[in-house]
Amino acid sequence: MNIKVCVGSSCHLKGSYDVIQTLKDILKKYDVEDLVELQASFCLGHCAQGVNVKTDDIPESTRAKASVTTEDGALLLHNVTKDNAEELFAKEIYPLIEF
Ligand code: FES
Repeated sequence: MNIKVCVGSSCHLKGSYDVIQTLKDILKKYDVEDLVELQASFCLGHCAQGVNVKTDDIPESTRAKASVTTEDGALLLHNVTKDNAEELFAKEIYPLIEF
């Protein structure tokens, strides 16, 4: 599964770099580094609500647990910061990981 953090100019200014660093630590902490690939993404089209984080390859088996899906079935999280990243990860992303 992937986690894409927007590094477009607007999200960059709102702290994408910090979000990426924080998510890196979180993946380590939850011991899922081998299951989740952290990626930087171009603008995700929701600049006013940045930092935006998207997961667009949710496994079939866990897809029903995704709370905020887009038309194409991706999980899209808005207003992610280094301070709320762990809470959002634990609540929204972790349950989607296929073990
Ligand atoms: S810059 Fe991140 S959504 Fe546009």
